[in-house]
Amino acid sequence: MFNQPLQLGTLTLPGRVLLAPLAGVTDVAFRRICAELGASLTYVEMLNSTAVSCRNKQTLKMLARDPTEKILGVQATGRTPESVANAVEFLDAHGFDTIDINMGCPVRKIVGSGGGSAFLKDIKRIAETVKQCRAKTAKPLSVKCRLGFSREEMNIEEIVDAIVGNGADMITIHGRTRACDYSVPVDLPMIRRGLDRARTVAKKRIVCVGNGDVMDFESAEKMMRETGSDAVMVSRGALGNPWIFRELLTGERQRPTMEEWADVALRHLDYHEQCHGENIHSARQTRKHLIWYTCGFPRGNRLREKLNTIETIAQARELVREFARSLPKNYRRYDENEPGAKGAAHDPKHDMDRQLDRGVGAEGIAPDAVE
Ligand SMILES: Cc1cc2nc3c(=O)[nH]c(=O)nc-3n(C[C@H](O)[C@H](O)[C@H](O)COP(=O)(O)O)c2cc1C
Repeated sequence: MFNQPLQLGTLTLPGRVLLAPLAGVTDVAFRRICAELGASLTYVEMLNSTAVSCRNKQTLKMLARDPTEKILGVQATGRTPESVANAVEFLDAHGFDTIDINMGCPVRKIVGSGGGSAFLKDIKRIAETVKQCRAKTAKPLSVKCRLGFSREEMNIEEIVDAIVGNGADMITIHGRTRACDYSVPVDLPMIRRGLDRARTVAKKRIVCVGNGDVMDFESAEKMMRETGSDAVMVSRGALGNPWIFRELLTGERQRPTMEEWADVALRHLDYHEQCHGENIHSARQTRKHLIWYTCGFPRGNRLREKLNTIETIAQARELVREFARSLPKNYRRYDENEPGAKGAAHDPKHDMDRQLDRGVGAEGIAPDAVE
């Protein structure tokens, strides 16, 4: 099911499990780990079109790509159709394989400056933006959106018409409105309504993707079945759990052994160091990933406290190794018999508050997500 290839414009994806662009999360290191465990497509974190046009130094750094990343997408948002289209032109020339326009980000600063979810209230601007971007790239062009700005203003069909009618190759619908936080379950019938509409109005083949609450094989399979999507986009479900991609591809629940867990966590640190170097800022960036990795183990709390203080990658490695030694090699993550190591669906990250929802965690919003 998820391991069937998927044709996205000129691009052939090896499967149907996509890793969402996640501000502050989907850097080179995390993307490589997810791709190794089966993600069919990964994206750079959302970029602001103005920052792209100004060739902002921080933004250009975020465009880094590892040679092992054979297929890589990128996402941008912005206020004017011209600004987003110029960013698309630049990102196309930079060599990205597919470009997504963010029309769903709920962060106040982004919406206030006309990007992300602000589009949902302005159908003409959606249409003009997609049209102008289409004119700038022959590569697969997509849009990620929500169901509407609020429950009262749910206008997914209009949104879809403007996106698909102007030549997008793929649409991803996150089944919540801008006003919903994660306590509201994803609305699968409304995603279905949007995706059905996309297929009806499309003049060419359109790839339809469902997003929201994909946390394991069951929820991914339900997303596909109930929305008729061609693929799923995984977001929070991948935080600290890149094994979710293998789970979706194989249909088998993944409960990595301590040994497998440590291998991936240490490899993530290696990739992180290769990309960001060994320094305090780089080490601090790894904290949130490592904290997410510790979910599903007994005594994880104690480790999390220590991880919150690391200042070098070497310290992070030592803590991971020390923790791995504290449990038997064949101990499996998410052991239901173990108090304090509940199933993946109970991970605290799934109850993220609205701050983290927007990629605005303790470290603040990704620098170039702000105009
Ligand atoms: C930390 C974090 C950062 C995010 N950054 C982005 C982003 O840069 N671009 C985007 O389109 N969505 C972003 N999102 C939203 C997710 O892609 C996704 O639409 C949302 O979390 C719903 O999916 P889920 O319920 O499976 O997590 C972010 C979400 C989180 C938790």
